[in-house]
Amino acid sequence: MDFLSELRSRLRTALTSFTDSPASYVEMLKPSQDGKFGDFQANCAMPLAKQNKQAPRDVASALIEKLDVADLCDPPEIAGPGFINLRLKTVRLANETARLMLDERLGVAEVESARTYIVDFSSPNVAKPMHVGHLRSTVIGNALCRILRFLGHRVLSDNHVGDWGTQFGMIIYGYKNFRNEAAYQKEPVAELARLYRLVNQLSDYHEFVANLPKQREKLPISEAALVAARQAAAANPSDKNAPRLVKKSEQELSDLKGAIAAAEKKCQSIEEDPALKALADAHPKIGELARRETAKLHLGDIENKQLWDAFVPKCMLALESMYKRFGITFDMALGESWYNPMLAGIVEELKSKNFAVISEGATCVFVEGNDAPFIVQKADGAFTYATTDLATIRYRVDTLHADACLYVVDSRQSEHFQLLFATAKKIGYDNTEFRHVSFGTVLGEDRRPYKTRSGDTIGLESLLDEAIQNARKIVDENSSHLSETERANVSVLVGMGAIIYVDLHHNRDSDYVFSWEKMLATSGDTATYIQYAYARVCGILRKGDVDVKGLRSAGHAILLDTPAERTLALQLNRFSNALGDVAVDYRPNLLTQYLFETANCFASFYNECPVLNAEPAALRTSRLLLCDATARVLKQGLDLLGIGVADQM
Ligand code: ARG
Repeated sequence: MDFLSELRSRLRTALTSFTDSPASYVEMLKPSQDGKFGDFQANCAMPLAKQNKQAPRDVASALIEKLDVADLCDPPEIAGPGFINLRLKTVRLANETARLMLDERLGVAEVESARTYIVDFSSPNVAKPMHVGHLRSTVIGNALCRILRFLGHRVLSDNHVGDWGTQFGMIIYGYKNFRNEAAYQKEPVAELARLYRLVNQLSDYHEFVANLPKQREKLPISEAALVAARQAAAANPSDKNAPRLVKKSEQELSDLKGAIAAAEKKCQSIEEDPALKALADAHPKIGELARRETAKLHLGDIENKQLWDAFVPKCMLALESMYKRFGITFDMALGESWYNPMLAGIVEELKSKNFAVISEGATCVFVEGNDAPFIVQKADGAFTYATTDLATIRYRVDTLHADACLYVVDSRQSEHFQLLFATAKKIGYDNTEFRHVSFGTVLGEDRRPYKTRSGDTIGLESLLDEAIQNARKIVDENSSHLSETERANVSVLVGMGAIIYVDLHHNRDSDYVFSWEKMLATSGDTATYIQYAYARVCGILRKGDVDVKGLRSAGHAILLDTPAERTLALQLNRFSNALGDVAVDYRPNLLTQYLFETANCFASFYNECPVLNAEPAALRTSRLLLCDATARVLKQGLDLLGIGVADQM
């Protein structure tokens, strides 16, 4: 049973005689940090007392008078300045735990009013190699879909692949000019990725060469600005603003120097390679020409459309094999191109209803409070990422009847989504929840975006292979009793689990530093630890030769006489609450946290309470049932995150 929700609802009723707006006070009822203070603690008497100018302990006792929890709790106690401590009746906790054990869904009820969610996640730009940034979207989005679905919502997962962007111009240009036919026949996607990188590199080169003189000219100006700022600061020590201006000038100078150094390095890498240099010289207008190929594609050029038709399915196939490793299937993968026929209509409508105006030749929506325009058609006539996303909203709301649209996308796109959602509201989509479920960057040990040693972004496939290889070492060390095949299978679960879990257990808004060692640790907040905990429970049940199914249905009593048993039972009953918490603000880390705590509760329980040797028989049975329920909760919880388990590790 979800005791927290039940107690909160009882508290809400009690609060009606104290306040007209109980919501924030109700939230103050929380699980206790320390068993000494009962199982739950309500801290609302203090602020209520302040508001009504009364003594907090008096308010607490008046509140207790009204609080009808006699069926659930021992008599409430008041502690300190006016904390209300609630301790569940042990019999009640035991009975509810026994009920949870009989329930397929482990006490997690389906929501009363199901919503239709569209979850837009993964959504890589095809034909560019997918990288570790897309990993976060893939993993977080998948977990959210699974959890929302389990809670009873209708969920449509949509891989909104970027299959219509400027990368196609580059690939088409590369294909026409630099293709290695044999390589393309053998491994088309790898060859397309090579072509993309090559064209990108060559066009960057020309851009850098053209821009470097201008940047170098700025250098003395920027240096002089810094000198001036420093002088001003020295001359006027009381000016509070001066140090800030010095800092700003320092930053600008260092950014400029950094940009010049990076551009020089890139130019050098071309100039030192005679073959590349020859290619660059032979294609001086490559950037412009690649953009023209994109424009031709968008205007329906037959040759380019045929190439696009040939490339996309190959790229999608490669993506599929990656998703398969994660066990992910999408309900839809319409992609940006699918919305192409609707874009002109969207812009026309925005214009005719005066939502959009022409500014410097471009068609833009201006949103109150934002200086940046939301450009829906560029001066050259091209539609944008923004236009596609508006068309996508129209389809998702009008046709798919979405109640909520989640976009699991890098936080660097937050301005885009802010403008998108504001525009959607403006044009009348104001009954739908739009959420940018944003996330931070994966960093290397140097705290810069995670790269390989050679400086390339890391391909996802090789990352997964490496995870499994590293997992193999852990499994060999810890599971030497398993056969070769078993260890190989377990390594896949451990490696994939580590990658998924490490991503989910961080607050999604934060950047995090990628570390193999930490993510595969067998103790600590890792999938490996929880997977081993699960296998340990299975081991106990196996060793005792226990018929768990029979035991579950026999209606045995659950005995919670020791604190460790009680704590574990309470924790198992919180499963439903943890899942509900995830759905509030789309934060899977609240589930990883719950599972980690559950594994910890189990470890304490197992330390303190003999199971197979427990006597009398009723106690042994009760403890076996607690073990079994723990295993089921851990397995179900990990499964909702997209992580598998093995009975033997
Ligand atoms: N393709 C984009 C990228 O890789 C992400 C798309 C996210 N979804 C959306 N509806 N904008 O950056």
